[in-house]
Amino acid sequence: MNTTELIQAFASIFGQEPDATFFSPGRINLIGEHTDYNGGHVFPAAITLGTYGAARKRDDQTLRFYSGNFEDLGIIEVALSDLVFKKEDNWTNYPKGVLKFLQEAGHIIDFGMDVYVFGNIPNGSGLSSSASLELLIGIMAEELFDLKLERLDLVKIGKLTENEFIGVNSGIMDQFAIGMGADQKAIYLDTNTLEYDLVPLDLGDNVVVIMNTNKRRELADSKYNERRAECEKAVEELQVALDIQTLGELDEATFDEYAYLIKDANRLKRARHAVSENQRTLRAKEALVAGDLDKFGRLVNASHVSLEHDYEVTGIELDTLAHTAWEQEGVLGARMTGAGFGGCGIAIVNKDKVETFTENVGRLYTETIGYAPAFYIAEIAGGSRVLSRK
Ligand code: GLA
Repeated sequence: MNTTELIQAFASIFGQEPDATFFSPGRINLIGEHTDYNGGHVFPAAITLGTYGAARKRDDQTLRFYSGNFEDLGIIEVALSDLVFKKEDNWTNYPKGVLKFLQEAGHIIDFGMDVYVFGNIPNGSGLSSSASLELLIGIMAEELFDLKLERLDLVKIGKLTENEFIGVNSGIMDQFAIGMGADQKAIYLDTNTLEYDLVPLDLGDNVVVIMNTNKRRELADSKYNERRAECEKAVEELQVALDIQTLGELDEATFDEYAYLIKDANRLKRARHAVSENQRTLRAKEALVAGDLDKFGRLVNASHVSLEHDYEVTGIELDTLAHTAWEQEGVLGARMTGAGFGGCGIAIVNKDKVETFTENVGRLYTETIGYAPAFYIAEIAGGSRVLSRK
């Protein structure tokens, strides 16, 4: 969607031109999965798939929301004085949460807005359409109400919305990647300190192929919260002997020595993943920076193995994609990306082999699963931004 189309779409719904237009990306995660709420490292990147938006400030206290993805819902109206979660308000709960937490942080939002959004992140694909929307609304408010905001504040408000308004206990990776993304760069983030490096994603002759299982992410939120609780319980058990706050503080050798303190087999596996995945992420970043792409690819594969067997968040669809990808020519590595339980995987594939790759993986996946996956090339680009002003 370009700016002209966005302005036209807005005008056809709201009868006037918007004050400004916006874009907020989705994200992939190269490696470092389910580590962000465990005080570990993540290595995501913002992509060119994302959410477009246009907004105009109103002179009353009414918010009017329209999504080009949910045309049936029409315009959803919300009073600025009524920023509370209501199931029937559907996707507008995300914007409501963001505006509420901006206000609570002391930012003055004293008028309503007309808001148009349209996203091209496939629904439920695990490429963070919700964080994309949260940051989009954040930059809309920043622009229209002239808020003095650090980008990191907005990132944290997005996370707060997810945790306290929507009820998913997610970490900071998605909002951070989307808010702080940069062209051709992956973000190596320590989720404990929030220190980060922008690392050039130099993959030589290879591209990142996103592989969509096209599986609806069922029960994803409750399973996600369950994994998080298992890790927290494991930390409590380890704290009997270790002075730690998170699993991210442990290397594999120390974890191994104290693992006997964890009293449940599943919890042991979950904690082992959190520790090993964090260490893998450190090594993967080093391999990428050193230009050792083969090693980087193997670590990507190892991440999937750990998510499949220890963390158990993959499922037959993601496993079929990763396993068949590993067998193809010209593939450096492949794994699930994001929360899991459906959604997408990524594969690092030689440019010249992409066509055969998608044909083969597509066919084998369809034979096993009964319906086709989808593939897109991930283009790595910048974070949430204003596209045009009136
Ligand atoms: C979801 C969450 C993130 C992160 C990933 C798993 O995308 O929103 O915070 O925990 O799952 O790595």
